[in-house]
Amino acid sequence: MRSILFVGAGRHQRRAILRARELGLRVAAVDRNPDAPGLVDADLPEVVDFSDVDAVIEVARRHSVDGVLTVSADRAVPVVAAVAEELGLPGIGTATAHLMTHKIAMRRTLAQAGVPQPRFAAVRTLHEGRAALETVGVPAVLKPADSGGQRGVFLLDSADDLDAHLHVALAESPSAEAIVESFHDGLELNGLALARGGEVLPLTLSDRLRPPGIGFGVGWIHVYPATIFGDVLAEAERVAVHAVHALGLRDGIAFPQLLVDDDGSVRVVEVAARIPGGQMADLARHAVGVDLIEIALRQALGVEVPDELALPRYRQPLAIRFLTAQPGPLPTGTVRSWSGLERVRAFPGVVQADVFLAEGETVRPVRLDGDRRGYVIAVAETNVEALERAESAATLLDVEVE
Ligand SMILES: Nc1ncnc2c1ncn2[C@@H]1O[C@H](COP(=O)(O)OP(=O)(O)O)[C@@H](O)[C@H]1O
Ligand SMILES: [Mg+2]
Repeated sequence: MRSILFVGAGRHQRRAILRARELGLRVAAVDRNPDAPGLVDADLPEVVDFSDVDAVIEVARRHSVDGVLTVSADRAVPVVAAVAEELGLPGIGTATAHLMTHKIAMRRTLAQAGVPQPRFAAVRTLHEGRAALETVGVPAVLKPADSGGQRGVFLLDSADDLDAHLHVALAESPSAEAIVESFHDGLELNGLALARGGEVLPLTLSDRLRPPGIGFGVGWIHVYPATIFGDVLAEAERVAVHAVHALGLRDGIAFPQLLVDDDGSVRVVEVAARIPGGQMADLARHAVGVDLIEIALRQALGVEVPDELALPRYRQPLAIRFLTAQPGPLPTGTVRSWSGLERVRAFPGVVQADVFLAEGETVRPVRLDGDRRGYVIAVAETNVEALERAESAATLLDVEVE
């Protein structure tokens, strides 16, 4: 029986672990949290902190795994690449893994390739930060060079904002580096693309709507298909594919994130080399009938990904509404109880919904991806109607707070 190692075994990985077992694979998994939900379902669970690459390599060797992968965990991407390289298994290579997880290295590479993106400057100190802000101008975005999930991401309107937030952004970066870049308002798009043997196949492009305020970077609604069309749509696809090529991804799933200005110009926010979190794998499944998890498992094992699995099978308009507090549908406060998930799931067009609320936990205004406490996915004849359905269904959840 072939075996596969999952690096990270959290909530997002759990479904993939179950799918791997369904496909007849023996699953080893590492996570530093002994209570990680995915460890329960693995054949060979190991409590190992994956920031210790040597420890992960040791596990991979001991179980003689045939492949290694991660789902949704950006920090695991370089670890997976290093383990694969060390054991001679299929992988994206440590150089590409670095370019696709380190925002400064990524921006420099994209700049050399002429891929359109925000103005940017690298920052390690307050002194550099002030100079960077001068170059880039305000409004600007400050982020850790190598983190994820909106941790340590701030909108800057002045040098005072930089002074206030730089230490947090630097603290979120394992390499103690940050990046300052020009802020672009406008529409954000999420792309999904598949690199196979050096060819990049765009799968989906969807609107990623975000809330006003401190949570400005959180994706709280996805709408498929994207609302852009014509030349702008073609330009967005071109930029996404160009960026994936420039970063050197030959075999793997790419998650390009783009910004479209009102004048139709497209810029790259970042490109990740993994299955994205936040229900994007569900988006691919419901919208175009492509199973990213099976594709990722095959690529990790070095098995061919045939067109039957890779090519979109249909185009089903849909919307995903995340359950977040202000300004989303959930109340803020300490959760006393909640109910109504069956009602949400029974609503017309709803194909999937879940809630991750624990009694006694405190729901805060949305600031991070991690503040999303569930989601509703609805399909319809059009993307607009799908969004209306998802919004209406979300209001059927009853959450009591104190
Ligand atoms: N230059 C920018 N202009 C406008 N919004 C941005 C910019 N950079 C980041 N954002 C917003 O913040 C989010 C998080 O930034 P990103 O670079 O993707 O970091 P992370 O690794 O945390 O996902 C983006 O999805 C986008 O909504
Ligand atoms: Mg991102």
